[in-house]
Amino acid sequence: VITKAHEEAAVHALRSEKFIDGESTYKFKTALQMKFGRKYCSLCNSGTSALSIAIRAAIICHYIASKSKIFTTPLSFISTATAITMSGCTPVFRDVDEYGMMTPSYKDGVHIPVALYGKRYPYIDECKGVVIEDDAQAHGTHNLNTLANCFSFYTTKNLTVCGNGGAILTDDEKFHKVIESLINNGRVPGKNYEHQYVSSSYRINNINAALGMVNLKLLHDQITQRRFFAATYNSTLMDLPQVQIISEPVHDHTFHLYVIKVHKKLRDDLRNYLYQHKIETGVHYPYLIYQQQPYLSFAKKLPKAEKMVKEIISLPMHNKLTFDDVMYVANTIRSFFGYEKI
Ligand SMILES: Cc1ncc(COP(=O)(O)O)c(C=O)c1O
Repeated sequence: VITKAHEEAAVHALRSEKFIDGESTYKFKTALQMKFGRKYCSLCNSGTSALSIAIRAAIICHYIASKSKIFTTPLSFISTATAITMSGCTPVFRDVDEYGMMTPSYKDGVHIPVALYGKRYPYIDECKGVVIEDDAQAHGTHNLNTLANCFSFYTTKNLTVCGNGGAILTDDEKFHKVIESLINNGRVPGKNYEHQYVSSSYRINNINAALGMVNLKLLHDQITQRRFFAATYNSTLMDLPQVQIISEPVHDHTFHLYVIKVHKKLRDDLRNYLYQHKIETGVHYPYLIYQQQPYLSFAKKLPKAEKMVKEIISLPMHNKLTFDDVMYVANTIRSFFGYEKI
């Protein structure tokens, strides 16, 4: 949703600020630190980069060994794993619980859990060792007792910069300084052509940061609206034994996605029925990461995750829906299962 405030912020950044490292970049960083409750924030060009950079910085700081095995979830966007692989480490996929949350390993090690769909990751205290949390979908339901929180501002996310962007937040100063350098081709701080690490250009564009700043001010109200719609779905679908609600409690969820589970034999029929009633749905995700080409050699049987990908449906969720839209979706699901409309 592009408002006058977005237009003005973008034009102001374009005309009056530096394209890289301009005033809006600084303001967006500072605002995120304060809003998300961490001491340091670095901005970069995507959530995928944020994860890779955080892993590499943890290696450089000797918080984790190079080529570490990293516990993570197979039920995520592929970046969670590719960031691990591209940093020279190896993903070790764990099974998920009935809400799609990675089960902890209880072993000392390195963990990258995902706050999937925007739900706060509930097993953070059981993840022993170093934790880098993938909060790409969870702006505001991230856990603070981690080494880092990695966010995505990709266009579909609750908080976007109108394109690609990402952030890494932490309380660790040494780690933060390494991250800042890695984002900027491994430069020595303050020196234009002196470099300390092998890295790449991961910098964010200042106009994107200006737009992010406008969106950050809208975030709280948008999440409140999403929670209201999620609570509406929950209360309208809760008496259907065929539907499993996996989005409670709503106050600990930001509802990047609203997902239900139904029996795998009915899932595609329900999706088609909704489509015929002009309701588009999604599946996040249709395959586990280890069922995809780059990770086939990692394949291991994780029964709960394999069951879940066949049962999940993402229903329409956006702060610009109306109450009537949500009731229409919920009532169409009710009629599919032969229940009276509410
Ligand atoms: C869970 C998860 N991790 C990582 C990413 C990668 O973020 P980006 O698309 O900004 O690179 C995404 C977003 O697409 C995501 O949903």
